[in-house]
Amino acid sequence: MPTHPVTVHATPPHNTAKDLIQYITENRDGLEDALLRNGALKFRGFALHTAEDVEEVALALDPKLASGEYLGTSPRDALTRHVHSASELPGFYPIPQHCEMSFLANPPSRLYFACLLPSRWGGETPLCDFRLVWRDLDLDVRNRLERKGIRVVRNYAGPATRRSFDPSALKRWDAMFGTRDHQKIEEICGREGMTAEWLPDDKLRLTCEPSVMRLHPQTGEPVYFCHLQVFQVDTPEAELRRVRNLRRSAHARFWHTIGRLVTHANKRFKRPTERAMDVTHADGTPIASADVEHVRDVIWRHMVVEPWQLGDFVVIDNLSTSHGRLPYAGPRTVVVAWS
Ligand SMILES: [Fe+2]
Repeated sequence: MPTHPVTVHATPPHNTAKDLIQYITENRDGLEDALLRNGALKFRGFALHTAEDVEEVALALDPKLASGEYLGTSPRDALTRHVHSASELPGFYPIPQHCEMSFLANPPSRLYFACLLPSRWGGETPLCDFRLVWRDLDLDVRNRLERKGIRVVRNYAGPATRRSFDPSALKRWDAMFGTRDHQKIEEICGREGMTAEWLPDDKLRLTCEPSVMRLHPQTGEPVYFCHLQVFQVDTPEAELRRVRNLRRSAHARFWHTIGRLVTHANKRFKRPTERAMDVTHADGTPIASADVEHVRDVIWRHMVVEPWQLGDFVVIDNLSTSHGRLPYAGPRTVVVAWS
């Protein structure tokens, strides 16, 4: 059975951001226990209108929120010191389930999402308990992935790179690291277990070999903890196919066709190390497509999909529980902070 977030509903008129902070302060121990057990908490019905409101509540839960450095792959805009837009990726594209920055040596431990404007349709942020995913993965697949390891490659253009039209391109390396200083970037990479390789035309290739599973630092539970099925070359087709099967709409069928073409083009015309993102076994051999498909199947079986409501505030234990995003249309404002 999928694990749903523990939900706390506001009781009007006690539903302001201040009321939520007071509730958190008075119930801190119980909330910590529930977060550890279920992997996510949801606060619903509180009047959170701005990024500043969200920051205030998140700081009440966690005074050590991160600021400045975001080494993930989504394009994000900073809205306040600690709060960013969740992702500026176009709405048609589904973001596969992932624990935030799982490929870093020091990934965030908690995420704080809030909805300041729900989309007209779609745009859910599904959650998935990655402890259950690890438990339910076929033992042969698990053993193969652990024994052969994985290697993640990401390619970035730089400020002096010639412009190209590549819809799958990641943001520029100076935008990701917030600096153009090569030495500083190499220091950050060293700290986070990544190798930085400077390439002609001002490009940067990041390579790392993260583990597939990590033990939860507080409970010791094993957690599927990697971006394997996010970075693998079949991802656009495979995720859009599952979205098509979930939605059964003409829009979803159309985008699945596009996903097939994009996946085909990536396989046909780009060498693995030159794709925006790629993942192989640690020795560079491809991971069997059937193994990655199996991982996706288990994840989708445990995914919890709930529509956003205005003012929803969701806390995620990033070391046990993943998140993603389903396609949407129209305006949508979901913001995030992390620690
Ligand atoms: Fe994310």
